[in-house]
Amino acid sequence: MRVTAESKDNVKDVLKSAKELLRTIELNLDQSNDEREIKKFNEVIGFCEQVVKIIEDYPQSKEIVFLDCSCGKSYLSFALNYVLSEQYNINTYFYGVDTNSILIEKCNQIKDTLGCRNMHFINNKIIDVQPEKPIDIVIALHACDIATDETIAKGVKLGAKYIIVVPCCENQIRNRLKVRHPLIDLTDFGLLRYRFADILTEALRAQFLTGVGYHVKLTEVTSPKYTPKNLMIIARRKKGNKKYNMDKYERLDKMFNTEFVLKNYFSDCELSQDSLLDSSKGQKI
Ligand SMILES: C[S@@+](CC[C@H](N)C(=O)[O-])C[C@H]1O[C@@H](n2cnc3c(N)ncnc32)[C@H](O)[C@@H]1O
Repeated sequence: MRVTAESKDNVKDVLKSAKELLRTIELNLDQSNDEREIKKFNEVIGFCEQVVKIIEDYPQSKEIVFLDCSCGKSYLSFALNYVLSEQYNINTYFYGVDTNSILIEKCNQIKDTLGCRNMHFINNKIIDVQPEKPIDIVIALHACDIATDETIAKGVKLGAKYIIVVPCCENQIRNRLKVRHPLIDLTDFGLLRYRFADILTEALRAQFLTGVGYHVKLTEVTSPKYTPKNLMIIARRKKGNKKYNMDKYERLDKMFNTEFVLKNYFSDCELSQDSLLDSSKGQKI
């Protein structure tokens, strides 16, 4: 079946009817009133819908290689694999990486039970992983704190055509917003500081990706009634010869004195030269 504009509407039905898959990955909604499972299921549906939309124009014969960063139990990869391979007949390969060896072992057991030969799980830090195949799409659902930044840095370094993340907790800059910045009267209040830190963190990530040659869109992965952590960053690598331009990122970082972590994954040389992404210019996803 070819992926079409209407396909997005099918994702929920396709996944809901995938009884064996849901039982095996333990998202068994029929027998569960567990709010965490319902929340996770809706996040996964929303993520899959966005990916299906993105690959509408993908050549059906070409293998699409995913890297799922901080995959945990890999609900997302197993669901995406099912939707794309089983339902739409798209050739896929999935790498999943997580620092938790118990979860990686669990992923391997699920993979064997489901007979998914196109999946490979790796126990490592995101930033250190070196997949054998070139990566098309980097994904991360609720990678904790700076694991989202590792994901973005890894995706940029690998020259991924898409980097799609739904960030989790944003702890790194909250305390830095207590002093020395132009909106200090706003962040005097704990709750507002908390919320503003979330917004600023996502703005820094989005501006970083823009600066290194990606077109960035922000959307909601699912309704906020399921999770407040529902912001999704979809970054598509622009084609052609691009120079890095970190001005907007630098401006924000400096204005709020955040010393944000993302640049630390790159040398000055990497960020001042012509884009690392040039090596794969002109490739169509
Ligand atoms: C909140 S869980 C999300 C798991 C999964 N993506 C999901 O949606 O169910 C975060 C996961 O990130 C993993 N993790 C945290 N830091 C990491 C890092 N630097 N590299 C790889 N995995 C990491 C943890 O072991 C944990 O499994």
